[in-house]
Amino acid sequence: MSQKKNRAKITGVHGYVPDYVLDNSELEKIVDTTNEWIVTRTGIKERRILKGEKKGTSILGVNCTKGLLEKTNTDPKDIDLIICATVTPDMLFPSTANLIADRVGATNSYGFDISAACSGFLFALTTGSQFIEAGTHKKVVVIGADKMSSIIDYDERKNCVLFGDGGGAVLLEPSKDHTGIQDYILKSDGSGGDMLCLKAGGSLRPASYETIKNKEHFIYQEGSSVFKFAVTNMADVSEDIMQKNNLSSNDIAYLVPHQANKRIIDATSNRMGIGPEKVLLNIERYGNTTAGTIPLCFWDFEKKFKKGDNIILAAFGGGFTWGSVYLKWSYNS
Ligand code: ACO
Repeated sequence: MSQKKNRAKITGVHGYVPDYVLDNSELEKIVDTTNEWIVTRTGIKERRILKGEKKGTSILGVNCTKGLLEKTNTDPKDIDLIICATVTPDMLFPSTANLIADRVGATNSYGFDISAACSGFLFALTTGSQFIEAGTHKKVVVIGADKMSSIIDYDERKNCVLFGDGGGAVLLEPSKDHTGIQDYILKSDGSGGDMLCLKAGGSLRPASYETIKNKEHFIYQEGSSVFKFAVTNMADVSEDIMQKNNLSSNDIAYLVPHQANKRIIDATSNRMGIGPEKVLLNIERYGNTTAGTIPLCFWDFEKKFKKGDNIILAAFGGGFTWGSVYLKWSYNS
């Protein structure tokens, strides 16, 4: 375990999902798929969709951040920094974090976004923790939120069954005990970038008649190739962080995995040698909310966590990006 002078700890969590439930039976009516295929191949039964005009990812971020500040009795003016992990920003700029800061009244905070797809929350969490560890920031809000429905083609069955909308936020503060973020391993490999991406809308292929006609503003994924990388790398990095910190499976209270596919999660927990009772799952209710899955899991299962619990977070996503975080939970609910 690395010896740190200051540690960052999570002192509160909150999540937000939109009300509209898109379940597998509704998808059966839209595309050529079945509930059985979706459940057996992915574990997903339903997902939430943010409906309505003029509603971007910032709405998800504002709702979970407002709830977080209320729950932790935090004055928005005391927030030093807001980091938002997302691949579906309201706009390419200004940053979604900036828009959220304005709408929650965090007038003394600055903000920026992090783009690391499904690993985004882990990249943002470890980035936020550096500011606390440096001793320069006292309260950092880290958000993972995505409105995946804004980049999904609902005429095509491959991806529309996988993704949903939602987000979660955590408050990071300095730790005065031994709890908090202990260690992390983050990785990326740009050579896999073409297998999971949004082809157009950036500076390489700005929006044009052609990009719209070719549906290049929707997510592109070579599912089975990505699956193989995800299974190997999420399991490897989770095993690596255990070894690096001399943790056995008995030492671990919970695995909080990115929720892309139940089969990827099973492969990871098997490699870690931990049983299903320690694996936190909400994929059946929300599908893959990209940067939202891990903080949404915190929100759903917060009451289970006890101060001092060893928790491993693990994710894999577009980029490719992947990683694992080891933390000791800091409070009893
Ligand atoms: N309903 C019914 N059949 C389908 C569907 C569907 N929704 N989607 C695909 N199929 C069919 C395919 O056409 C194919 O049919 P064929 O054999 O006749 O050609 C068959 O099912 C198998 O297709 P595969 O793509 O090989 O299915 P697979 O078992 O690999 O499951 C899935 C697909 C769920 C996408 C899986 O590959 C996966 O989970 N990949 C990884 C996803 C991931 O982790 N991404 C990273 C995070 S996302 C991010 O970062 C934004």
